[in-house]
Amino acid sequence: PAPENYAIRSSFFDITATASDPQEIEQRARYIEDGLLLIEAGKIVSLRPWPEAKDALPAECLILDRRGKLIVPGFIDCHIHYPQTEMVGAFGEQLLNWLENYTFPVEEQYHSAGHAAAMSAFFLQQLLSNGTTSALIFGTVHPESVEALFQAAEQRAMRIIAGKVMMDRNAPDYLLETPEQSYQQTRALIQRWHGRGRLGYALTPRFAPTSSPALLEKVTQLHQEFPDTWIHTHLAENPQEVEWVKKLFPAQANYLDVYHQYQLTGPRSVFAHCLHLEPEEWRCLHQTDSAIAFCPTSNLFLGSGLFNLQRSWQQQIKIGIGTDIGAGTTFNMLQTLGEAYKVNQLQNYKLHASEAFYHATLGGARALSLDHLIGNFMPGKEADFVVLQPTATPLQRMRWQNSRDIWEKLFVLMTLGDDRTIAETWVNGQRAWHRQGEEAAV
Ligand code: GUN
Ligand code: ZN
Repeated sequence: PAPENYAIRSSFFDITATASDPQEIEQRARYIEDGLLLIEAGKIVSLRPWPEAKDALPAECLILDRRGKLIVPGFIDCHIHYPQTEMVGAFGEQLLNWLENYTFPVEEQYHSAGHAAAMSAFFLQQLLSNGTTSALIFGTVHPESVEALFQAAEQRAMRIIAGKVMMDRNAPDYLLETPEQSYQQTRALIQRWHGRGRLGYALTPRFAPTSSPALLEKVTQLHQEFPDTWIHTHLAENPQEVEWVKKLFPAQANYLDVYHQYQLTGPRSVFAHCLHLEPEEWRCLHQTDSAIAFCPTSNLFLGSGLFNLQRSWQQQIKIGIGTDIGAGTTFNMLQTLGEAYKVNQLQNYKLHASEAFYHATLGGARALSLDHLIGNFMPGKEADFVVLQPTATPLQRMRWQNSRDIWEKLFVLMTLGDDRTIAETWVNGQRAWHRQGEEAAV
């Protein structure tokens, strides 16, 4: 383990404050080619250019040399399903058939605490080996699924938010519960895990079609009892899904209105996808300060549609990036940003590298109301960061070296980077993962 106090010398990139438009992000971006990050008891003390930092080092400060690498804040995945790790790449279906044919049978296995524990360990290892230090995570309907996940995350000191799925209709019997069971089991999990160490609980109704009015009432009740829990669900991912919601809830004005009527919108609510929104739904997301998780690889893989990122800026709605494993096709945030760029190319919007890295770090933290704790290298923040190896392959090395400035370098990283780019992942000031062959931790 690393000592209480140490410093790391390397190149650093972060965004120092939240922003309300893409130009502001660029202004608030900080690149220090030769810098020193000082860490004490798992928290960031300072990040300064080496020439000034070297004359003001604490006595007997250990310095780790990572020159030649680029260190960025740990990536934040704002929407992912851990039980779907084992079904990435399921062929041929769009959302509703994909759920029925592939997803539900896989999720059935998480009634087993042993299976949940084994998959939790594998899943967190996948996050860490891809540089992701925090995530907002779906379990399954089984309390055993999140029990195992929270235990595994606690062992690794990771800041995660997760929840048991709540669902009581329109799925196979083996995944259904009653609203009362859902309430009791969720309540017990909140009391056991919410706010324990770095862990947080998200009330997780799967989506409107698998929720009866009685179940949604239970979600409302739980959120009133525990107002600092998060709310995590899906919204307007697929056109058939949207039509189905209109049939199931004919009294509601639109899809989001179903959640809004049950007071499930708000600053701690995160809605995955949001591809097929009506103007009134955009307005409601803004007015309630709700957040969206943009999941490009999933949206392309399921053929769901193209997320309108530009519109989310116009409407001033908080955005984070989700991999949405296992409809998404990679745990890797660099690859996910590369796909986000392409989704925006198809809509004539240029996703600049500064904006992309913002969404994956500080912007995601803000979407999860965690920006006072994580997302950049400001003093006092928790020391979650990734050491990137920008020259992992011959092609990456060539493009890194012939890039003119940090913007081009970052853009090449999100275009060509993958898990080979992740050299080390540090969580809460300790090295939690490293690629084989990388330096000793200290
Ligand atoms: N909508 C409801 N459940 C799911 C799910 O598991 N994955 C995705 N992508 N969309 C959903
Ligand atoms: Zn999802």
